[in-house]
Amino acid sequence: MKKLIAAVLACMMTASMVACSNGSTGGQSSAAAPSSEAALDAAGSAASTPAAGGKKVGISMPTKSLERWNRDGSYLEDQFEGKGCSVELTYSDNKIDQQVKDIENLIADKVDLLVVAAIDGDSLSNVLNTAKSANIPVISYDRLIMNTDAISYYVSFDNFKVGQLQGQFVVDQLGLKPDDKSKSYNIEFTAGDPADNNATFFFNGAMDVLKPYIDAGILKVPSGQKTFQQVATQSWDTKNAMNRMQNILGSYYSNGKTTLDVALCSNDSTALGVTQAIGSDYMGSNTPIITGQDGDEANLANIIDGKQSMTVYKAVANEAVATLDIGMAMLDGQKPDESLIKSAGWKFDCSYDTKSYDNKKGIVPSYLLVPTVVTKDNIQKELVDTGYYTMDGKYPKAKK
Ligand code: BGC
Repeated sequence: MKKLIAAVLACMMTASMVACSNGSTGGQSSAAAPSSEAALDAAGSAASTPAAGGKKVGISMPTKSLERWNRDGSYLEDQFEGKGCSVELTYSDNKIDQQVKDIENLIADKVDLLVVAAIDGDSLSNVLNTAKSANIPVISYDRLIMNTDAISYYVSFDNFKVGQLQGQFVVDQLGLKPDDKSKSYNIEFTAGDPADNNATFFFNGAMDVLKPYIDAGILKVPSGQKTFQQVATQSWDTKNAMNRMQNILGSYYSNGKTTLDVALCSNDSTALGVTQAIGSDYMGSNTPIITGQDGDEANLANIIDGKQSMTVYKAVANEAVATLDIGMAMLDGQKPDESLIKSAGWKFDCSYDTKSYDNKKGIVPSYLLVPTVVTKDNIQKELVDTGYYTMDGKYPKAKK
């Protein structure tokens, strides 16, 4: 009986693969320099061959409360719909149980492909086993899903590099040199959610650049909080980051003499909280260097206003295009590998990595896009001229 069901399922899979296949792997994507039309059009597969339709793609995003996932969700939806697929898009309000339920429902709705950005990388093993048993392939989107062999690919940015860019920005701004100990600076760290596998990559990337200066006493950490666990922020939440920074400022910087030179924040939602804490509770007269990541609108406004120094921008429109082309190839019965990068004709840089992302069940083949540093000086060029944002008066506004 089991065999019969498996055979029927396999047949249905094959039939629907053929139905969805459009005979291309989305090879006409282009995204490096989107026209001002819309970032999505520019980043998107040209989709000149409408798919036969009938394929259903389930997209599970973590939450609407962190700005970027709204963009990811709608880019992904538009991309797959542009290829004739139908899309079910869910947001799980940063609640792990909710995400498990959402994915269960997508499986029950018989999606042909799952694209999942996990809230907690460790909590999806069971539900993804169910997906595997139903022959539904899974792409781990942006965040690596741990402890499961049900995922085929990981699509993200080079997360370690994101942290390195933040660290290097600090080094450059302060003009640090490894053997120049004539001056020292104070730094505090704010990292991301421990449940998010990316968070340690960001932190370790930043530390990779900054630790030598900490070890040499050139960078000092008055709070003494230097380990990931000490500086992590539950749920990447702005308020949590703000509260912690207020405590640090109250405990270690309230004498009016200790200067905070740098607040290294892993992303924009945490940078926003840290900036608020500095605005309300910092006694010093300098403006600390504050790093971020994502290009959230409020943070870009802070960058323009000189309250945040930089953000690491990750063009999620391109991440959606990569996911589309990998997903369509899989739905077409192919096993994408490094060669897809060339054949897809992406105009954005992407590397194929089969070493870095071990999810404790094995190395997950990864497509990693390249992040960019955005400051007040290059916002126009990197975000507005490229078509990702429009200038809304003084501040950039995301197009999606
Ligand atoms: C993403 C970041 C984002 C963070 C919070 C991470 O997994 O890679 O871009 O800032 O989650 O949403």
